[in-house]
Amino acid sequence: MNIHKFEVIVVGAGGAGLMAALYASKNADTAVISKLYPTRSHTGTAQGGVGAALGNSEEDHPEWHIYDTVKGSDYLGDQEEIEFMCSKAIATVYELEHMGLPFSRTPEGKIAQRQFGGHTNNDTGLPVRRACYAADRTGHMILQTLFQQCIKNNVNFYDEFQVIDLIVVDGSAAGVVAVELLTGELHVFHSKSVIFATGGHGRVWEITSNAYAYSGDGVAITLRRGIPAEDMEFFQFHPTGIYRLGILITEGVRGEGGVLLNDKGDRFMEEYAPTAKDLASRDVISRAMFLEMQAGRGIGGNRYMYLDVRPETVNKYAVSDGRQRPDGTPYIVTAEEILSKLPDIVDFCRTYIGIDPVTQPMPVQPTAHYAMGGIPTNKYGEVLIDENNTIMPGLFAAGEVACVSVHGANRLGTNSLLDILVFGKYSGLKAAECAKGTDFLSLPDDPTDFTRAQLNGLLNTTGDERPEIIGGEMKKVMNDLVGVFRTEEGMTTALETVRELQERFKHVRVDDKGKIFNTDLLATWELGNLLDLAEVTAVTALARKESRGAHAREDYPKRDDKNWMKHSLAWLRDGEIELRYKPVVITKFEPKERVY
Ligand code: FUM
Repeated sequence: MNIHKFEVIVVGAGGAGLMAALYASKNADTAVISKLYPTRSHTGTAQGGVGAALGNSEEDHPEWHIYDTVKGSDYLGDQEEIEFMCSKAIATVYELEHMGLPFSRTPEGKIAQRQFGGHTNNDTGLPVRRACYAADRTGHMILQTLFQQCIKNNVNFYDEFQVIDLIVVDGSAAGVVAVELLTGELHVFHSKSVIFATGGHGRVWEITSNAYAYSGDGVAITLRRGIPAEDMEFFQFHPTGIYRLGILITEGVRGEGGVLLNDKGDRFMEEYAPTAKDLASRDVISRAMFLEMQAGRGIGGNRYMYLDVRPETVNKYAVSDGRQRPDGTPYIVTAEEILSKLPDIVDFCRTYIGIDPVTQPMPVQPTAHYAMGGIPTNKYGEVLIDENNTIMPGLFAAGEVACVSVHGANRLGTNSLLDILVFGKYSGLKAAECAKGTDFLSLPDDPTDFTRAQLNGLLNTTGDERPEIIGGEMKKVMNDLVGVFRTEEGMTTALETVRELQERFKHVRVDDKGKIFNTDLLATWELGNLLDLAEVTAVTALARKESRGAHAREDYPKRDDKNWMKHSLAWLRDGEIELRYKPVVITKFEPKERVY
């Protein structure tokens, strides 16, 4: 058996994983295991910016950032954790700057900041420049910067190793089991602390901004080991994915003055959010787009809208909005400015859909983007295994796979990059500290047995079901019936379909029976994860009989604070899902109506 021993193991090499590894490695022997080469991680697709109230271009305060995040979460975010994250934001951004992250700059040389949805001047309610950006490649730059720092700090990397199982000994985490993609060999990573930083599960839905790698591995693995998943009913649809492809068009486009238009050429967000308009929070905008399309005002009657960042459009609305540069001069943009601030967006549109955003509007539709739910943790990344917040020794989670919960029912743009940096750091520090205070636990006789059972189970079926067909049916039904708007009837149908698909999955056929780079087998295993998470999503969404944030029920259109100011916890027990709840942590802000 291939056995490796490290004090801290980090699973996943995106921003959260690398930040965790960097900080863990300062005090403990640390390794990162990733199914991808690290710089191919999904953090690299994050575009518009990381939120921090630097106040470089206009007045701003961490307290405003805290309030906006609570309000954006539709009051489901835990306020103590939100205060922790937002008050660490400024130092975190400067830390990244000092590591070498090439932020865009103001004319005076400060870190440049742009407007983003839901981030406001709390006195006026108008958008504030809080997103610190590196053109439209902020996540890519974070990933490169942190990878370099990890290499410098002698972090050990196991690239293209796919983790299949968590080793649990007497209720504590003791390591993980992974398949080496190149050889198909199983490897046991024995550790004192394990940090899951495996990202989200947007591949449950048909139209998504998420990478193929976003198959919910961390949540699925821990569910199978008796650990609950929190708030899985809340999944965010970003308003602007490229029509049909789902590829992200950053909210930074609207931060730079772009507007959403319907088939009549109306800037419809003026109706739905008279103050913040195109920079209202994502749940509000995705719903508005949906309603416009339902009313037949999608472009040409189709299920997309236009996102227009042509200089003449931006300049026209800048005048009617009274928008100014930070120095008080009128806001007038040129094609060159759009190109320099949004180079990747321009490039994506030219490459994928043959449209030039400088001269043509972009066709966009809401795209499944971000999991607010995940593995329950506290602010140090420690995994919580019940409604009493009992800590599981040795197990940590950070980034999108975790639910701290700072995003509640709806995340604000830029807060995911902040989340991965802040909670990546603190989980890394805590994991190393805990590792220093404990001994390695003895491993079971064969720690790989559950992994072998899962993979051999897939290789040895006699069925003829095709994984891509099962996956396609799951994605479609989830998109149609557990998407932006939901009903009891629709979600019941979706749940029945997902359960039928789970039955068919037992007869799935993996054609490649070999060992070397068997992506057929591993992609099929990932599909099993997605099916489990689709089921948990539908069950938790059916149970929550209210509308809050990204969970919008046509049959329960109002938020119900009396009965539903609580987080859901879902366990997978013998094939059944058990639900329990725990209260939301409120410090300063009692829930009130959200107006944008
Ligand atoms: O629109 C964007 O650039 C996405 C950012 C985010 O999800 O935070």
